[in-house]
Amino acid sequence: MDFQYIKVDPQAKKNIALIRLNRPKELNALNLQLMGEIRDALHTLDEDDRVRVIVIAGNERAFAAGADIKEMAGKDAIDMLKADQFSTWDQIRKTRKPLIAAVSGFALGGGCELAMTCDMIVASETARFGQPEIKIGVMPGAGGTQRLARAVGKVRAMEMVLTGKFITAEEALQYGLINRIVPVELYLREALRLAAEIAEMAPLAAQLAKESIRAAFNTGLDEGLRFERKNFYLLFASKDQKEGMQAFVEKRKAQFRGE
Ligand code: CAA
Repeated sequence: MDFQYIKVDPQAKKNIALIRLNRPKELNALNLQLMGEIRDALHTLDEDDRVRVIVIAGNERAFAAGADIKEMAGKDAIDMLKADQFSTWDQIRKTRKPLIAAVSGFALGGGCELAMTCDMIVASETARFGQPEIKIGVMPGAGGTQRLARAVGKVRAMEMVLTGKFITAEEALQYGLINRIVPVELYLREALRLAAEIAEMAPLAAQLAKESIRAAFNTGLDEGLRFERKNFYLLFASKDQKEGMQAFVEKRKAQFRGE
């Protein structure tokens, strides 16, 4: 997996892949190619049985400062329509394995949206989240209005999107946008540690649990409960269910194989 704007380590830690955004001079601004590379890497890692959890990180200064404004500036609506950039995001969203964003520094616009597309967010104390698109005459386009409203509630999302203000890691934690804050030198290590904790669990159960939680944002309660139940029953077809329950009975640690 050789890319121009990202670096991928499929085994950064046992069963954990790491994708690092790598356009440091542009604060990891998300141009079309970079987003396509993330999509392709995630697709490959999702198919790779050795990988159970995927971490996406930037660098200390920036997770990503948003879509590439210089790439977009001269475009008209038909250029945007034809480029259909958000179909890339739709594919990223379909990743079945748990995704953790490790955020330090700026997570703005598309950067904040990319972090929110992940399932969990570990932030450094220097992390800053925002949807500042309004300051450049547009609005969030990669799910910002929808995901932020769901994550932090209407009035906070309104204030962030309508003023473009950045929030601190502390505020993001208080708002329920992120899982935790750690010192800057530890943010990647902590994201990988959390990934390792999840990677110890039964991979199929993790995937179906992820799918079920995501369904909670798209369905009513009755339909969501039906969906959850079917996934629960389905896991009884897995060897890992037998192993997990047998290990409990035998008072030993389960060895999950993703089967
Ligand atoms: N696109 C393109 N280039 C960007 C960029 C972006 N989103 N963000 C930063 N850069 C570039 C800067 O142009 C600069 O390049 P040069 O050195 O060639 O001038 C370099 O990265 C460093 O940035 P700054 O000099 O501006 O650094 P700073 O520390 O003074 O400010 C910042 C940092 C507050 C993040 C500022 O760069 C900024 O406001 N960036 C834009 C944030 C933004 O508006 N994001 C939303 C984009 S639109 C979007 O994302 C739409 C969507 O929903 C998909």
